[in-house]
Amino acid sequence: MMSTLLDVQNLWVRFPTRNGVFDAVRGVSFTLGRERLGIVGESGSGKSMTGRAILRLIRPPGIVEADQISLEGQDLMKLSEKDMRAVRGQRISMVMQDPKFSLNPVMTIGDQIIEAYRLHNSASKADAYNKSLEMLEAVSIRDAERVMRAYPHEMSGGMGQRIMIAMMLIPNPEILIADEPTSALDVSVQRQVLDIMDKLVKERGMGLIFISHDLNLVADFCDRVLIMYSGRIVEVCDADKLHEAKHPYTRGLLNSLPRLDAPRDRLEVLERDPEWSEAPSVSGSE
Ligand SMILES: Nc1ncnc2c1ncn2[C@@H]1O[C@H](COP(=O)(O)OP(=O)(O)OP(=O)(O)O)[C@@H](O)[C@H]1O
Ligand SMILES: [Mg+2]
Repeated sequence: MMSTLLDVQNLWVRFPTRNGVFDAVRGVSFTLGRERLGIVGESGSGKSMTGRAILRLIRPPGIVEADQISLEGQDLMKLSEKDMRAVRGQRISMVMQDPKFSLNPVMTIGDQIIEAYRLHNSASKADAYNKSLEMLEAVSIRDAERVMRAYPHEMSGGMGQRIMIAMMLIPNPEILIADEPTSALDVSVQRQVLDIMDKLVKERGMGLIFISHDLNLVADFCDRVLIMYSGRIVEVCDADKLHEAKHPYTRGLLNSLPRLDAPRDRLEVLERDPEWSEAPSVSGSE
């Protein structure tokens, strides 16, 4: 049996709006072991909100509710904000969809990595500097010394993303939540970043939640996949079986992928059935 790192039961994320409460995540339940778990679904289906809610990073007035979000038996929903901060820094790391917002704009990249490293390891400044260089090189940043001296706004999106991944891995987390971690990267760098994450899962037994739009990438890279539609999980399957998925929404997502081997004049339009998500939570808005 694979050990369970994270057990999420009946997770809801709600946003009060002028037209009533909008439910972005609606009763999601799943477990994560020492594996690569993909979350796919179209834009707005609730993937990022699910990831953020696990870390209780939903900004007010958003509300997170769950029967439990347990990390190796400890319910995160019951922790104080102070204890939650310790979980965020050490045990679960998240690479946000837009990494530039996660870096401090007035501090050099180097100072930020060194600070993060020294927070988790007792190391001299010189040792921390060398370690930071190594970590940047590990995520395929070639001119690491120059990058150490640069500020976040001087970085491209792809570089920012890799810097975030390097920083998130410093504390050696038990779980990494990576939200579209490779979407701003070109294919060869993407492969390197995936290899880094893969190694952490295989060698250190980390659990990875990999959020992505890219069904082919997820089918190829992950072990299992959750398919989200309108705030719910509509299907769970082994990643290598994704192309045989049964749910009509998943089939629609797969059929709307452009294929090089079978080009078509037009991409298929996704058909939807209100039954997939039950009644919409905000009425009168369509
Ligand atoms: N502060 C907010 N107030 C109201 N609704 C919000 C707020 N933040 C997010 N939402 C809504 O929650 C839903 C889920 O958003 P989420 O960011 O999880 O989608 P996603 O699946 O990550 O999409 P994408 O693939 O575009 O990143 C969306 O419909 C979004 O508009
Ligand atoms: Mg998102």
